[in-house]
Amino acid sequence: MRADINYSDIIDSDEARIAQAAADAAPSQPSSEIDPYRFFVTQDESKYTAENQEVWQTLFDKRMETLDRQASDVFLDGLKAIGLTRDKVPQVTSINGRLASLTGWESHPVPGYLPAKAFFACLAMRKFPTTITVRPKALMDYLPEPDIFHDIFGHVPLHADPVFADFLQTYGQAALHAETEYHVERLARLFWFTVEFGLIAEGGRTKLYGSGLISSLGESDFALESPHVDRRPFDMDLVCDTPFEIDHYQPILYVLESFEQLRDAMVSYAERVLEESGVKPEAVLV
Ligand SMILES: [Fe+2]
Repeated sequence: MRADINYSDIIDSDEARIAQAAADAAPSQPSSEIDPYRFFVTQDESKYTAENQEVWQTLFDKRMETLDRQASDVFLDGLKAIGLTRDKVPQVTSINGRLASLTGWESHPVPGYLPAKAFFACLAMRKFPTTITVRPKALMDYLPEPDIFHDIFGHVPLHADPVFADFLQTYGQAALHAETEYHVERLARLFWFTVEFGLIAEGGRTKLYGSGLISSLGESDFALESPHVDRRPFDMDLVCDTPFEIDHYQPILYVLESFEQLRDAMVSYAERVLEESGVKPEAVLV
């Protein structure tokens, strides 16, 4: 199928194979010695096809029909700040130029799935590992793995916000150094219920900010309006104790009061994780 060829060509290179091998080897290294730069690849604008551009434009237009009223202002402000438009598949170099003076976060293309430790090592250095493939047109409505629309459109606008930016780096530092299965599982749940599927209260209304909701064509109405969703006030311990399932719309979501609430709760939790892992928090947290 031609769509499959388009889908993989973008990361079909020796550079990508070397980067993937480095990422796959990361879990066997000491956390402090993992070098995220070895996982990154370059994004070649010329590799995107007419179909790729059409898919980006269609997804962008469809989501913006409702996000103006459904998404957090922090997301919408971030979208403008990083210069995303419907016109063409974005280039990370352009986005990073805009983020430099705002938060210092950077998006870096990666060849595919990164093991958890490799992913966390990137976040700990304010580097966001970014999928650069575009989903095939035939899978426009649902793609089980991330693509550039999920990773850039869904995630990166929040990286322009200084409070969320600090939260995400602190998360990465805690997750990189977490030694016990107990904390690894709790941190995965935290990521799921915030970065991927988070809601936030703004101006007396509940808004979306999690990338899984922002980039989904189907789930945002359900998340905000369905009587079958249990929308709970954010509480760090409660979130970390809540299992999640990945193959259907989420029946439980957590609503932040503010991103400051998330950042501050993360700092406290990171200090606990680091101390229990034998790492001095002041040596890691910035
Ligand atoms: Fe994601």
